[in-house]
Amino acid sequence: MTTTRRSFIKTLSAASALAAAPTLPGFAYIPNLKKISPNDKIRIATIGMGIQGNFDTMAALKTPGVELVAVADLYDGRLQHAKTAFGKDKSLFTTRDFREVLARPDVDAVLVVTPDHWHDHITIAALKAGKHVYCEKPMVQHLNEGKAVIDAWKKSGKTMQVGSQRISSAAFQEAKRMVQAGDIGEINYIESNNDRFSSIGAWNYSVPPDASTQTVDWDRFLGDAPKRPFDANRFFRWRNYRDYGTGVAGDLFVHLITGVHYVTNTMGPTRIFSSGNLAYWKEGRDVPDIMTSIMDYPKTAEHNAFQMVLRVNFANAGRINDVTRIIGNEGQIEFSENNLILTKKKLPIAPGYGGYDSFFTFTEPVQQEFVKQYDAKYPPDTRKAEPAKEVRFESPKDDDPHAKHFADFFKNVREGSQGTIEDPVFGFRAAAPVLACNESYFTQKVVNWDPVTMTQTNAGTKSPQKVMAKKK
Ligand SMILES: NC(=O)c1ccc[n+]([C@@H]2O[C@H](COP(=O)([O-])OP(=O)(O)OC[C@H]3O[C@@H](n4cnc5c(N)ncnc54)[C@H](O)[C@@H]3O)[C@@H](O)[C@H]2O)c1
Repeated sequence: MTTTRRSFIKTLSAASALAAAPTLPGFAYIPNLKKISPNDKIRIATIGMGIQGNFDTMAALKTPGVELVAVADLYDGRLQHAKTAFGKDKSLFTTRDFREVLARPDVDAVLVVTPDHWHDHITIAALKAGKHVYCEKPMVQHLNEGKAVIDAWKKSGKTMQVGSQRISSAAFQEAKRMVQAGDIGEINYIESNNDRFSSIGAWNYSVPPDASTQTVDWDRFLGDAPKRPFDANRFFRWRNYRDYGTGVAGDLFVHLITGVHYVTNTMGPTRIFSSGNLAYWKEGRDVPDIMTSIMDYPKTAEHNAFQMVLRVNFANAGRINDVTRIIGNEGQIEFSENNLILTKKKLPIAPGYGGYDSFFTFTEPVQQEFVKQYDAKYPPDTRKAEPAKEVRFESPKDDDPHAKHFADFFKNVREGSQGTIEDPVFGFRAAAPVLACNESYFTQKVVNWDPVTMTQTNAGTKSPQKVMAKKK
């Protein structure tokens, strides 16, 4: 028996033991930093082969030298589909138990593409098992889960990438260049809305007619969520439930916040407040379909103080006109699809007078004195505004942010480096504000956050409503 085969069998029996264990695996950390030579394949496994699991796997396989060897999922139909879609050579290993994937020595890296409530558990177990990890956004489901992932990543020495792939786009890279070059002056406000009006847009994805406790591993799906009887909607439309998802903030705001953090080099906001409502999609979901969140970013060495306002309305039957704008005191950047428009506008030093102004209400002699003083104070060169300029940036037609995000991950894996564009410290600093949006919505209080130490500074504070109710 070769050493490799012996250790493979040893690991498999460890996997069987783990499969029988009631809790998650307690692997000791397997030290890393073995580079993978350019000639060696990087072997990946996808854990969670649903909608995004398929897209992530396809994007990952665009990097040369990467191959898919295993898939874990909890719905048998998706395991069967994966064999057809990705197992051309029929050797694709499939299982309901992600621990069997982690125990395989032929897996170098895993893609964690499960519902949000599993992200931290699987990521930590994978890092402990010596795997590199690509974890979908938001990195964790709750504010108190981020540090454990960061610690596991640091201890493991493994490469990790969080999956808000848009920051790998040419448009975001150009926006970062513009902001860092001072093209829009000091940023003071960022706004974005992301409205929808369709059942699928509101996350009511199709439920397969064969969904049952035979075809779905319901108990495993629940994980650390409250126990309840099988419910196909909860399994296939998990975003609609707080137990498994992170609502509109975790699903949609997180992409924009990731982009803003990348472009501005910020660490995050200090105050977060959300309000909203469940207005339309009342089929049983317990998360809002309308939410507006306000975040205060404090002045730092990297940027002035700015405010960010994000909105989602899944019940917008009006004309949907989504915009994302980064506004500064000398211009703005507006994103549309994969392109952006930079508009530059700089005020002259002289404030001007006349028009809709108090000037005409002065007496004639006072007006004359005003003009005399104004002319003395503001010579002609202080009165010229720089002409407004518009610069359009169009991403190259073949720009593929998803494939580029994976390419960055695999490049770091090969180099034995932890320096990905969206490592878990960055990933958590982007996830935390959106998790705070939910916390604020549900507790009806402002969340105070320390973005440097990554801790909630008013955790456990009573909500104003509860305090008011007690007073009555
Ligand atoms: N980056 C992006 O643009 C983007 C886009 C969509 C989704 N996502 C993220 O991807 C993740 C998955 O979303 P989706 O839309 O693909 O959901 P989905 O419901 O289509 O797929 C999730 C799959 O995970 C499987 N699963 C659940 N728990 C599991 C476990 N413990 N072990 C193995 N498999 C498990 C389910 O069987 C299911 O097939 C979410 O975190 C979501 O936020 C990211």
